[in-house]
Amino acid sequence: MNQTNNIIHTDQLSKSFGDKKVLNSISLSVVKGEIFGLLGPSGAGKTTLIKILTGQSSFNGHAEIMATSCRMLDRSIYEYVGMQLDNCGIYDRLSCFDNMLLFAKIHGIDKQKTREALEYVGLGRGKDIAGKISKGMAQRLVLARAILHAPKILFLDEPTSGLDPATTRKIHDLLLDLKKRGITIFLTTHNMEEAHKLCDHIALLNEGDIVEYGVPEELCRKYNRDNQITVLYRDGTVYTLMNEPGSAAAIADLFASGQVESIHSSEPNLESVFIKLTGRELAQ
Ligand SMILES: Nc1ncnc2c1ncn2[C@@H]1O[C@H](COP(=O)(O)OP(=O)(O)OP(=O)(O)O)[C@@H](O)[C@H]1O
Ligand SMILES: [Mg+2]
Repeated sequence: MNQTNNIIHTDQLSKSFGDKKVLNSISLSVVKGEIFGLLGPSGAGKTTLIKILTGQSSFNGHAEIMATSCRMLDRSIYEYVGMQLDNCGIYDRLSCFDNMLLFAKIHGIDKQKTREALEYVGLGRGKDIAGKISKGMAQRLVLARAILHAPKILFLDEPTSGLDPATTRKIHDLLLDLKKRGITIFLTTHNMEEAHKLCDHIALLNEGDIVEYGVPEELCRKYNRDNQITVLYRDGTVYTLMNEPGSAAAIADLFASGQVESIHSSEPNLESVFIKLTGRELAQ
């Protein structure tokens, strides 16, 4: 059933809360070492799926991580799993370092490793009181905690939600570095640019259904139905041509005029792919 390279695998996974069906027959696989992005609007079921995969919620069907059923996750598997679902478990009155130390003790990790994890996420020696740090710092503290025990899989629920672009970039760099170190990352996001930049594969989740799956770039090309080229003249005139060999002469004429300001092909971004598929905006 599961192929050896798949570190996460689900087959016809469903979840209901009472009469309400939240996940419908989800079948997906995440390859070892990749960054996988689960995209979808608010209420799509993203957090629910992460909770199932991390053994925190019941479900119907099949779900496994590291070849172990998500119904059977125990201490030996959790040693390899890092997760950041929200900021819970952070003690506001303790320093960042003491927060980390508490967690380190659970995993039997020494102080030096704790210091290294704080340095790694850019929190220095962690002297600040956790209740007084900014949202971006808190996000990095939770990330430091999630990677402290050197997990093989990292689950991140909206790791950059509400952060400014500079802090977001720092977290992106950290995630790409973790990937380089061989960690598999499963993240959820509303942010299309983030998905495009980070993810090897994405799944678009809408009202509990996976409506599309693939490599971000390929999905954009697949939905490039307009397939047009837009040429902007310096005087503001816009010319639209079909992106096909027959347009070559017309484009050459436009260039020959020496008035071309810019030329763009109409490849859609992931946001427009999502809207095409669902009729809904992704942002909220
Ligand atoms: N414990 C629960 N009991 C009842 N319904 C729930 C529970 N947890 C989630 N739901 C419902 O399941 C649906 C999916 O919620 P979920 O939190 O997984 O969405 P999400 O995609 O993570 O949304 P967001 O982007 O806002 O975080 C929602 O309609 C939500 O109200
Ligand atoms: Mg959520």
